Amino acid sequence: MKILSIESSCDETACAIVEDGRKIISSVVATQIGEHKLYGGVVPEIASRRHCENIVGVCEEALEKAEMTPQDCDAVAVTYAPGLIGALLVGVSFAKSLALSLDKPLIPVHHIKGHIAANYIAHSDLEPPYLCLVASGGHSHIIKVKSYTEFETIGKTLDDAAGEAFDKAARSMGFPYPGGIYIDKAAKKGNPARYKLPIPKTENLYDFSFSGLKTAVINLVHNSAQKGEAIDVNDLAASFQHTVCEILSSKFIKSALDNGYKTVALAGGVAANSGLRDCLAKQAEIHNLKLYIPPISLCGDNAAMIGSQAYYEYLSGNISDSALNAVASLKLS
Ligand code: KG4
Ligand code: ZN
Repeated sequence: MKILSIESSCDETACAIVEDGRKIISSVVATQIGEHKLYGGVVPEIASRRHCENIVGVCEEALEKAEMTPQDCDAVAVTYAPGLIGALLVGVSFAKSLALSLDKPLIPVHHIKGHIAANYIAHSDLEPPYLCLVASGGHSHIIKVKSYTEFETIGKTLDDAAGEAFDKAARSMGFPYPGGIYIDKAAKKGNPARYKLPIPKTENLYDFSFSGLKTAVINLVHNSAQKGEAIDVNDLAASFQHTVCEILSSKFIKSALDNGYKTVALAGGVAANSGLRDCLAKQAEIHNLKLYIPPISLCGDNAAMIGSQAYYEYLSGNISDSALNAVASLKLS
């Protein structure tokens, strides 16, 4: 089954054609980062406008690369939640019209479920049940993946998401938006033990909290500037990244062991972080857990992951019609 899938929940307009949930036939991502960078973050109004301008061309390119016509696709899938409402609406409206005009099924996909499914494309042997850590710009969740379409969140962030903390800490260090990748690069040259940063405590041990850590970095930079003291940006990036990775991996590994999981997976934009990948790989080996991580190309927002999850949604009968609407905020289950 070949599914044409669309993703437009934030600042990437993407279309992919995915076969049977596991094989990418083509995948196109048009990023708007260059423009949002000018404002230090995503401007929702600009994001919606660029999605409108890009969506037809992006879908045409995906079809062209796949050497397919729209009629060759068996279904149309789209991210309908969560995300920026105006941005989501562009993808949803386009997908509804396309499915209607082609007389093909329309499959709604939750963005976070898509991030998790990126692992199915990369790892043909991965099957539920397993425990997944999803860390992105908007989410930090520990999720029991009970089946391809049944999920239970057992831990989440109480304030900032991990990616958000990366981006805000990066901004205070003078890096452009989105700063996660710049911290990752700088951290490779720095000393992670140089700056002591706070590790937050949460009532539920599987929950996260990153706002105190982010504020500690911002205060450290401001206070040093006021005293005329220089900050070593590489050391601060390394210290911050080390602390975030410690928090994410220690809670995730604990939750996996407490809940008897032998298989674990990582997903979301922050899964591209080299420190987190290394730290989790080491911890997984120590605790004899089989760890799945998507390739960096599938960590950030893309439509292939949406096409993968869409296949399993279709098999479980989750098909929508023209009444489908975009939803800005929606729990996994
Ligand atoms: O999943 P994603 O592309 O979009 C959302 O659904 O939010 O995640 C974007 C986030 C941004 O905060 C970005 O800075 C972060 O992922 N990110 C990274 C790295 N690459 C992307 N964070 C840390 N290290 C990286 N290498
Ligand atoms: Zn995302």
